[in-house]
Amino acid sequence: MSAKGKQHDRIEELRRLSAEAEAGGGAERREREHKAGKLTARERINLLLDEGSFEELDKFVRHRCVDFGMEEQRPPGDGFVTGFGRVDGRAVYVFAQDFTVFGGSLSETNALKICKVMDLAMRNGAPLIGLNDSGGARIQEGVMSLAGYADIFLRNTLASGVVPQISAILGPCAGGAVYSPAITDFILMTRETSYMFVTGPDVIKTVTHEDVTKQELGGAMTHNATSGVAHFVAQDDADCCAMIRELLGFLPSNNMEDPPRRATSDSPTRREESLNTLVPDDAQKPYDIKDAIHAIMDDGYFCEVHEHFAKNIVVGFARLDGKPVGIVANQPAFLAGVLDINASVKGARFVRFCDAFNIPLITFEDVPGFLPGTQQEFGGIIRHGAKLLYAYAEATVPKITVITRKAYGGAYCVMASKHIRTDANFAWPMAEIAVMGPEGAVNIVYRRELDKTPEKDREALRREKIEEFRERFANPFVAAERGYIDAVIEPAETRGKLITALRALENKKDTNPRKKHGNIPL
Ligand code: HXC
Repeated sequence: MSAKGKQHDRIEELRRLSAEAEAGGGAERREREHKAGKLTARERINLLLDEGSFEELDKFVRHRCVDFGMEEQRPPGDGFVTGFGRVDGRAVYVFAQDFTVFGGSLSETNALKICKVMDLAMRNGAPLIGLNDSGGARIQEGVMSLAGYADIFLRNTLASGVVPQISAILGPCAGGAVYSPAITDFILMTRETSYMFVTGPDVIKTVTHEDVTKQELGGAMTHNATSGVAHFVAQDDADCCAMIRELLGFLPSNNMEDPPRRATSDSPTRREESLNTLVPDDAQKPYDIKDAIHAIMDDGYFCEVHEHFAKNIVVGFARLDGKPVGIVANQPAFLAGVLDINASVKGARFVRFCDAFNIPLITFEDVPGFLPGTQQEFGGIIRHGAKLLYAYAEATVPKITVITRKAYGGAYCVMASKHIRTDANFAWPMAEIAVMGPEGAVNIVYRRELDKTPEKDREALRREKIEEFRERFANPFVAAERGYIDAVIEPAETRGKLITALRALENKKDTNPRKKHGNIPL
């Protein structure tokens, strides 16, 4: 055969192998996935990445299992699609599990494929995105598959805080397999087609006799609203890929870079008159802090994270002057913005993410304190509340706080107060900064006097003392007198003040003492 003929044959073989890998588990299984409202691994990657940017690696890797007749079925690629590409022109590494091949189960060899892209992402300082849709450990491979998971978990851990890691759950994710996404920074789940759990409904039925469906146990809304395991819920696979692209737009490629700036025509000095009337005169009345966030941020845009979980605190990304910022805000419209266990943990994790990836933190504070009650105390509000305090205190990114109304008690200290290294602390004129609200304070400080007062005069005295207390303490000026508040500002000018402060903090350098790592109260 001529050299030319040989070359032709090899090219034909390459094309045939390539087509075989791309066919995955075949047309019938692909069709089944489509009918279930799911896309295939390759379709997802194409939606996620810039058009034509995907470069696949290890397309011809095959498993090595010779048990249970597996030697008869060795499709090239082994059911995982891995490689690199671009999102908005920036490099990302990606792996996607193909449910049409052995249910997307993890073999020894496709664990090696994932580890390869993880190592490349780390070496090249680029985000890692996992598109999960898998029946878990490949049963036929036993401990080799488990070892593959552990190899991935180790890399997830070492990459944490170095490159952003994003996990999409687009189908099953069960057993120990959940722990790879759990270590990553953000989890997105599709509304109808995904679920995550450590033990499934059948095991639960046997052990605890509870009846629960897969969706109730570990569906998207369970993890977005109840457990807090997931951060975003997407309508379907395409929506999920679009959300990942949007999220990446706020993040640097790695911890040595600043987040990407995006041009905006929104004036840095824009006044927002509506803010002057946002906070009701009556301190007991709620308002929606998201109205303030939208009004202040570039183009009114806010990408909320963990929207459905612990709604008494709001976290997410926005831009000021074109630059990404992380926002943490108490939400007076939900449980009066009180800090409880879930809100503390949600806030702490977000603060630490922003700090790890050089994203300045803007805190909007209106908090009546920590939630009282045995449920909270028995649940460890001390330990969990301390996480938020710890996270803020150790953060060295630019930190700016705006107290919009209440800043009471320990919550005043926790929510990025001046005392834990916050760079710029502003307060709106309606701010109330005190150990507790006037009503509670009067009941304690004047208890004896009130008890001694005849009942008919007691209420009048209480009212008088509350007013006196409010006059003396429930304002921002005592804190401003001490320099704990740098400036009391007109709400309408908040955007300009934040942008000016951020510009002044652009070259901020702050460090923590040298240590192996701290001991955050987990
Ligand atoms: C090998 C698997 C598999 C697995 C599914 N398949 N899971 N093959 N190992 N873990 C195969 C099926 O045999 C089937 O092959 C195809 O994938 C599709 O599966 P179906 O059952 O037909 O699909 P569906 O009805 O949609 O059910 C999906 C499923 C179910 C709920 C995920 O397959 C399932 O329960 N799988 C086992 C899940 C599990 O227990 N995994 C181990 C978890 S523990 P054919 O050829 O018929 O198409 C774990 C430990 C990790 O993962 C530990 C890390 C430390």
